[in-house]
Amino acid sequence: MDYKVEISALLSKITGLESEEIARLMEIPPQSDMGDYAFPCFILSKQMRKSPVMIAAEIASSSDFDAPYIDSVRSQGPYVNFFIDKGHYAKSVVSEILQKGEQYVSSNIGIGKTVIVEFSSPNIAKPFHVGHAFTTVLGHSLSRIYDKLGYNVVRVNHLGDYGTQFGKLITAYRLWGDESALEASPIDELLRIYVLFHEKEKDDPQLTQDARDNFRRLEAGEPEEKALWQRFRDLSLKAFAKVYDRMGVTFDSYKGESDYSDRIPGVISFLEEKDLLIDSDGARVVMLDEYKLPPCLVVKSDGTTIYASRDLAAAMFRHEHYNFYKNIYVVGLPQSLHFQQVFAVLDKAGADYAKNCEHVGFGLVKFKNMKFSTREGNIVVLEDLLNESIAKTLDIIRSNAELRQTDMSEDEILDIANKVGIGSVIYTYLKSGRERDIVFSWEEMLDFEGDSAPYLIYTYARTRSILRKAMDQGISSSNAFDDALSLLKSDEEFALLKLLSDLPDAIEKAASSNEPFMLSRQVSRIARAFNRFYNNSSILRDSDDRLRSARLAICEAVCTAIKTGTYLLGIDVVERM
Ligand code: ARG
Repeated sequence: MDYKVEISALLSKITGLESEEIARLMEIPPQSDMGDYAFPCFILSKQMRKSPVMIAAEIASSSDFDAPYIDSVRSQGPYVNFFIDKGHYAKSVVSEILQKGEQYVSSNIGIGKTVIVEFSSPNIAKPFHVGHAFTTVLGHSLSRIYDKLGYNVVRVNHLGDYGTQFGKLITAYRLWGDESALEASPIDELLRIYVLFHEKEKDDPQLTQDARDNFRRLEAGEPEEKALWQRFRDLSLKAFAKVYDRMGVTFDSYKGESDYSDRIPGVISFLEEKDLLIDSDGARVVMLDEYKLPPCLVVKSDGTTIYASRDLAAAMFRHEHYNFYKNIYVVGLPQSLHFQQVFAVLDKAGADYAKNCEHVGFGLVKFKNMKFSTREGNIVVLEDLLNESIAKTLDIIRSNAELRQTDMSEDEILDIANKVGIGSVIYTYLKSGRERDIVFSWEEMLDFEGDSAPYLIYTYARTRSILRKAMDQGISSSNAFDDALSLLKSDEEFALLKLLSDLPDAIEKAASSNEPFMLSRQVSRIARAFNRFYNNSSILRDSDDRLRSARLAICEAVCTAIKTGTYLLGIDVVERM
């Protein structure tokens, strides 16, 4: 039941204002002693020629509020504060969650609308580092969130598989490539020869020339160069697939930069038709002064195209192919200017879909007291971070009898360590606003009491264990479907129920701002409130059966909320710990 809508309808009768307008004005008071909803009376002051304080007092004393769900109505200054009947509230929230299950957070606001979520987009032949993990985790979560809201989601991996570096790789591979090393660990081998190329190139200008020639041959579609490039691409994708599998990440399209090279002439003629391409020292650019942006380079002076041209081609293609409602790019903040320029060029060319393109940026990844064997360029590879996190989780579980049931098999312990270890990494990426830099530290990530994935997963396992015990003892939450739910009136219960009932809203906000942290924060609040409730009430031991069933029903609702919430973040839970 939507209390805000109901109260707005009552207020509309009393004040003559439209219900929708009242609902828009209605506020959630900052403190619980100010009620659950508050209506500010300023808007009525002019027409009624009274002070909002007087109006609030009059409204509060109206006899039209004798609905069963209202406990009391009080005025405070210019506000009318509404206190919802706690028992009524409990019944409405819990029964809805129990009936709908994981669908309780679903919505259909996205029906019929396509959202493209472009994320991950690593560069082939390069290690999958922790920066690419940030976009991967964010994009994966956003895709699941949009999906839950009914949008038609297209997950795109815009692979970095094009550019002059492939000329260098081809040259290097022919000179120093080791076939068996390439098979065994492709990315390491490709990185090794790429680094070697740069070392040798310093004293050997012929190498630079060869690389250029090879790139030209690749662009011209020469079979030998094309085959080598294809091989590097396939092997890289295979390596990336391992990482994606570990995190449950999937894509609908791997259309990378190379796929757009054929479409560049189309982009150029489109911009020419609109008379937007200006010559600048032999290069061709689009001026963007009116957007207060530097010119966007589209074609270089040697006639080759660049990153921006491929993004223009990709956006045009996506518009034609998907007719998107939103096209979001989950890419680090350092590329902000690039996306502003690309969207501005489209806008200047009259493409109305430019306004539906959005860059979803994120901050940097840092480490506190963590040592990794960093590879070339001080890169931390995601696999190393995941492996270390799993190993540390395993140590914690093994050394802590409380976290480990006595009858757990080695396989089960490994499965738990795997899920918790990976979940900890994912949660760290998603626990604060995405534009902030994130700092990984083992103490925080693996703090079973802190704001961490282990805490959420442990809380989930706790709800499951209570439900299992109840089943063994023959206690069922279905007995709570009569009026027993209205016995849930304690402050802890009420606080918890409020958080549960706000979860769908948090999910919508996460989508509208592209901030999964709005969701992670809510799930974490729910877990914390549940543990407070758990510590203060004897769920299965209360002497009143009806109260026992009702509290069990809360456990079930929390279990559903945490499972759904963590799923949307990309984190797997475990049934026991
Ligand atoms: N491959 C690029 C990188 O690793 C990211 C691609 C971003 N997406 C785009 N449409 N430009 O930096």
